[in-house]
Amino acid sequence: MKKIMIFLLILVVVCSFAVGARVGGGDISTKTSYGPVIFSHEKHAAKGLSCQQCHPELYMTVDQHKTVSMKEMEKGSSCGLCHDGKQAFTVKANCNTCHKK
Ligand code: HEC
Ligand code: HEC
Ligand code: HEC
Repeated sequence: MKKIMIFLLILVVVCSFAVGARVGGGDISTKTSYGPVIFSHEKHAAKGLSCQQCHPELYMTVDQHKTVSMKEMEKGSSCGLCHDGKQAFTVKANCNTCHKK
């Protein structure tokens, strides 16, 4: 019993170090027909956003990714919730700020 407790403690410590090496989910790369998009957790956290502003309502994990079109984003889905030209630069322009060709 004591051994199991110690193992669990080590597991928790190791996991928190593994998470501490990067912010949240790290850099997320999504392939699109317009070139890949890199979403940076670090840069978004640096703008003062909390995890709860995006999780779990808007996003889960990469495996559970729900594909969203630019048209839907322009109406406020996914990145478009904030990238509306008021809270952050708009998805109706700035294509190459998100898409890397
Ligand atoms: C501005 C929005 C935003 C914020 C704030 C945010 N995340 Fe994320 N997170 C995302 C997106 C986008 C994804 C990718 C989801 C997808 O592909 O559908 C993601 C994915 C993740 C994943 C899964 C990674 C994987 O490989 O599957 C974890 C874990 C995560 N975030 C943790 C966090 C934590 C912890 C915080 C707070 C420090 C945080 N996120 C803040 C947008 C955000
Ligand atoms: C805030 C970041 C951001 C900006 C700005 C942005 N995009 Fe995107 N775009 C994305 C993301 C993220 C996806 C992938 C969505 C998914 O797969 O769920 C995507 C997907 C796409 C797609 C494939 C889906 C579709 O709707 O056909 C095309 C094409 C595209 N973008 C073109 C553009 C063009 C053109 C612009 C500029 C007018 C632009 N994007 C601006 C983030 C952005
Ligand atoms: C909860 C709000 C929110 C969501 C959702 C969000 N962003 Fe952002 N994003 C911001 C804010 C705020 C900034 C900083 C203000 C600005 O640059 O206009 C920013 C900045 C950025 C930048 C510039 C980072 C830099 O400093 O170089 C990129 C690129 C970006 N976002 C991509 C994305 C993509 C791609 C998605 C969707 C997968 C997304 N964002 C979703 C709020 C958000």
